[in-house]
Amino acid sequence: MSVKEIIRSRVSSNKFTNTKVESKQIIELLDYAVYAPNHKMREPWRFIILEGSGRSLFIHRFLSEFKDDQKEDMKKTIEKVFQAPMVVAFVMPRNVNYADELEDLQAISAVIQNFLLLLEEDGYGSFWKTPKYIESDLFKEVLGLSTNEIVAGLVMVGFVESKGQPKTRKSANDLTTIYS
Ligand SMILES: Cc1cc2nc3c(=O)[nH]c(=O)nc-3n(C[C@H](O)[C@H](O)[C@H](O)COP(=O)(O)O)c2cc1C
Repeated sequence: MSVKEIIRSRVSSNKFTNTKVESKQIIELLDYAVYAPNHKMREPWRFIILEGSGRSLFIHRFLSEFKDDQKEDMKKTIEKVFQAPMVVAFVMPRNVNYADELEDLQAISAVIQNFLLLLEEDGYGSFWKTPKYIESDLFKEVLGLSTNEIVAGLVMVGFVESKGQPKTRKSANDLTTIYS
């Protein structure tokens, strides 16, 4: 598939089969994804892979901090993402300089999009998610982040039986101003 074909065929998928995703293969893809532009080569990212018993333990530890009356709701919320066989958290260091931090967020977003396209090329399904709870101290602590790190996004990874149709986009022709 050409890059054009991969971009046009990728869709967000959230119904995965139980087939295990091998972290070794995902790390190989991340090694390509990091060839994204990033200002001053700060490479503002690291990755946390949650799968198998590590994923179950993470969910258990996170939910154990909630009171019984909130636990069930939180379980449903978190399982919307953590039902995937693998979740990859994209972790970014905070930057004291606001402009630098915006650049870093753009750079890690480029890595995430590269990653989605690489997953598409290799036949995986994926879904980029930024649920509200990724901002919580509890989530960050259970995930093992240091105080100067944030989760820029979560990517659900797995295999899908059938993919949805890509949603159409507005035409760039209608969105472009040309000064010539
Ligand atoms: C930064 C970012 C955050 C996103 N967060 C969520 C999310 O929290 N929940 C969700 O349902 N979709 C989320 N999405 C996925 C979009 O909803 C999805 O990409 C969009 O509907 C287009 O569909 P497609 O990916 O199938 O082309 C996010 C996408 C981006 C780029």
